[in-house]
Amino acid sequence: MRVLVTGGSGYIGSHVCRLLLERGDTPIVVDDVATGRAERVQGMVLHRLDVSGDGAVARLADIMRSESVAAVIHFAARKQVPESVARPLWYSRQNIGGVRNVLDAMVTAGVPALIFSSSAAVYGDARGVVAEDAPTEPVNPYGRTKLAGEWLVADAARAHGLRAISLRYFNVAGAGWPELADRAVLNLVPMVLERLDAGAPPRIFGDDYPTPDGTCIRDFVHVLDIAEAHLAALDSLSSVAVPHRALNVGTGQGASVHDVVEGLRERRADAPRAEVLARRAGDPAAVIADVDQIERELGWRAQRGLNEILDSAVSAWRGASG
Ligand SMILES: NC(=O)c1ccc[n+]([C@@H]2O[C@H](COP(=O)([O-])OP(=O)(O)OC[C@H]3O[C@@H](n4cnc5c(N)ncnc54)[C@H](O)[C@@H]3O)[C@@H](O)[C@H]2O)c1
Repeated sequence: MRVLVTGGSGYIGSHVCRLLLERGDTPIVVDDVATGRAERVQGMVLHRLDVSGDGAVARLADIMRSESVAAVIHFAARKQVPESVARPLWYSRQNIGGVRNVLDAMVTAGVPALIFSSSAAVYGDARGVVAEDAPTEPVNPYGRTKLAGEWLVADAARAHGLRAISLRYFNVAGAGWPELADRAVLNLVPMVLERLDAGAPPRIFGDDYPTPDGTCIRDFVHVLDIAEAHLAALDSLSSVAVPHRALNVGTGQGASVHDVVEGLRERRADAPRAEVLARRAGDPAAVIADVDQIERELGWRAQRGLNEILDSAVSAWRGASG
């Protein structure tokens, strides 16, 4: 199958492109390479395009037609929460405008199937084990762009006979291949590794939460598991009757910030001890995905645990800095 992958040179998108290629599909990448890296998709077709820009609908529709695209996976989005707070209008143009343009082009070119990158951020301040029918009350502009994106996908799917799945990722980490690793220092694992590189103590924000070790608990899911979920979702689209579904992608297991930090320290020589700082505003004690629905509907289940996530992240980081 020929699959248009927006944001394919990014961290998660490049893993999906690699898996598509491995199983004999053809990824066609569309990316402005603002936060991605062209070398991650070397040898693949790469169209450099801002999907939210003027004229993007016509360009995307042209690419879909000329490349005989059968389905789209839409990763392209900006994902930094503080930046979304500072620039909400730009985030709305980028993230909501981007998915709007992709949908418009799909309808124009007659492409019927879409997988949309959503996020657990749509649940906002949810706590505990979170199922798909939990209230969606995002607490920042980034999360709101993802929820608005889901709504748009659902409306367009219903109106135009598309089949679509929004995948709500929990805490993505690790690397399937060292060269595809996450280089942006925005999430816990890269943040800790960067501090350790600098010989500085990793930071834990709060150890007085009502959890077994006092630190926050999150659902860390290996990026390769996330990538495999996309293939399962893609394969399911030809046989489903419902226009749109939103599915959690996580492991269903929690790991504490303490476990992650100590796991990374153990993998590095002479790592300084972590320092504990005050809680950050807005961090819920525990957030874990309920994964029953994705397992039932796609037959997908995460295969990798925290050790594989940390091993792969550390060796990819070492490769990049060594
Ligand atoms: N990484 C996570 O933990 C996480 C969690 C939940 C959801 N997501 C979502 O998953 C998707 C991929 O995230 P990632 O971690 O791979 O991020 P990333 O920044 O590595 O990848 C995003 C890719 O999209 C491209 N892009 C962004 N805006 C674009 C635009 N307007 N036009 C064309 N290309 C554009 C970037 O250049 C980059 O290659 C995003 O939609 C993000 O919101 C990520």
